[in-house]
Amino acid sequence: MKTLADIAAVRDNLLARFETFEDKREILKAQELKDLLASIKDVAPEDRRAYGQAVNTLSQELKAKVAAELDKEVELPPIDVTAPMDVNAAIPSLLHSENGSIHPLMQEIAKLSDIFQRMGFVVEESREIDDQYHMFESLNFPKGHPARDDYDTFMTEEKDAAGDPFIAPAHTSTMQNRILKKYKADLENGEAIAAVVPDRTFRNEDLDARHEHTFYQVEGIYVAKGVHAGMLIATLQKFLEEYYGKKLDVRVNPFYFPFTEPSFEFALSCPFCGGTNSDCKVCSGEGWVELLGCGMIHPNVLKAADIDPNEYTGFAFGCGIDRLVMMKHNIEDVRHFESAKLDFLRQF
Ligand code: PHE
Repeated sequence: MKTLADIAAVRDNLLARFETFEDKREILKAQELKDLLASIKDVAPEDRRAYGQAVNTLSQELKAKVAAELDKEVELPPIDVTAPMDVNAAIPSLLHSENGSIHPLMQEIAKLSDIFQRMGFVVEESREIDDQYHMFESLNFPKGHPARDDYDTFMTEEKDAAGDPFIAPAHTSTMQNRILKKYKADLENGEAIAAVVPDRTFRNEDLDARHEHTFYQVEGIYVAKGVHAGMLIATLQKFLEEYYGKKLDVRVNPFYFPFTEPSFEFALSCPFCGGTNSDCKVCSGEGWVELLGCGMIHPNVLKAADIDPNEYTGFAFGCGIDRLVMMKHNIEDVRHFESAKLDFLRQF
């Protein structure tokens, strides 16, 4: 029959071995500890209470020690998003696999895709290397068009069959021509083309809290007979209200894109302060946040997909997802998303 002295011996033994456990949680599964717990029922009834309490105290002590050790591993210095990753740094403290999480952008892309699907849109993927035809020509930017320069496009050294470098898509509009062609048969069957493309985009930007070279957009494309700008605005407003879970006012200003006519810039009333706080970090007190570009699809874009612009009209929009998520979760710097810094990611 075991005694209090046995518990003390097990304690000494386990504490001496503590450092040897790579995963400290293993100590809680040590056989000696299991034996102690199992032995409680064999102790003489008059000693059982004190014995049981001593075993319990030891078990609590070990659990606290393990918890303190796990906490130590996640203690990281504050984030400096501007610091480059140091490839020579000692291996960073990694997440235990059960603490892993889905990246906040991916979580939000799943939510916004779900909203659009419920509104009748199909969800398509873009690609990470594309050609000049899909980036520019099919979108009514002929060769030499000055608006090509607005896109700060990354290009490869390799060239396509036409002798042009490939590009890292600077917007998800690169998918417009493909979507229009893919679903063109639906129009002939009397159905609308309705697709969204949430995916990654790239621009050669100077980085700051609002600009990142790698970011996400969601493109929307809707074509049918008799589509007009009112439908575009209502669709976007409905989507944004569903996404933010509240009524929002929208502001639509004229803008220019070669692939939409007319084109608009779409702002929404600041979901944080509604214009009531002159110090608001998101809208600087203006009460409006520019969120996306949109417009009625240019006839030349429909023609490039063999769709007759006299018969069908449509709208398109391209919305920055990072901006959308920053406003939802009060994230002050876009560079957090691509920083791979665990103390940011752990908050989601
Ligand atoms: N592609 C545009 C941009 O990234 C946004 C846009 C998409 C505008 C679709 C109109 C229609 O700036």
